[in-house]
Amino acid sequence: MMIEPVASLPHMDILPRGDVRISPSLLSADFAHFAEGAGLCVHGGADWLHFDVMDGQFVPNLTFGAELVRALRPLFPTTPFDVHLMVERPYDYVENFAAAGADLITVHAEAAPHLQRTLAAIRACGRRSGVALNPATPPSLLNYVLDDLDLVLVMTVNPGFGGQKFLPAAGDKVGDLARFREQEGASFLISVDGGVDDRTAPGLVRDGADVLVAGSFIFHAEDGPANGISNLRAAASGT
Ligand code: DX5
Ligand code: ZN
Repeated sequence: MMIEPVASLPHMDILPRGDVRISPSLLSADFAHFAEGAGLCVHGGADWLHFDVMDGQFVPNLTFGAELVRALRPLFPTTPFDVHLMVERPYDYVENFAAAGADLITVHAEAAPHLQRTLAAIRACGRRSGVALNPATPPSLLNYVLDDLDLVLVMTVNPGFGGQKFLPAAGDKVGDLARFREQEGASFLISVDGGVDDRTAPGLVRDGADVLVAGSFIFHAEDGPANGISNLRAAASGT
């Protein structure tokens, strides 16, 4: 497949590193009212929106595809769309999600046998590239794709479902990655996904996380997502 650059769609640059960003996971939104849920997050101060795409193969659950990205894109023209592909053979879907309006496309190392090619294809579409690591996947493989990498997504639950318990051993990877980034003089962002809440966020940010993905904590917050976002931001900044 030849990937043509997609230039005509709105897309934002997610770099460089800076303040911690909050990326609410739409997996925890009311599926009958996606646009409303996304709107509550964007107007409630979300930095990005996180789309959990599941294929029923790589993970034992099915969610949605590029059509949801395409449908929400015009409603939120200035919010970076953070697409997390929990699918086998993610290379085959890169062009489709880029054309639909994803800004960042993250693929699982475990699902992409040709990881470097997949990351390069994402960049060829003018989008930012991410690698997700399951809890038991060592980060050492990133050594070989550093030149094509914009973000590492550390999974702190086994992917497939929202509302799971945070795995501390997987969270330890954040500090390892931050040290590795420093040693290599690299500039990829570190994102954390799974069981992120006001208790787990402070340690993750201290260890070097740049992006906090959170579903349950934000969408099930008392008084709604805006409150969840501000509580998470306060916890992340230690206030
Ligand atoms: C899990 C997804 C996560 C998940 C996070 O497979 O990648 O984005 O929705 O949900 P919480 O914050 O509820 O763990
Ligand atoms: Zn996710």
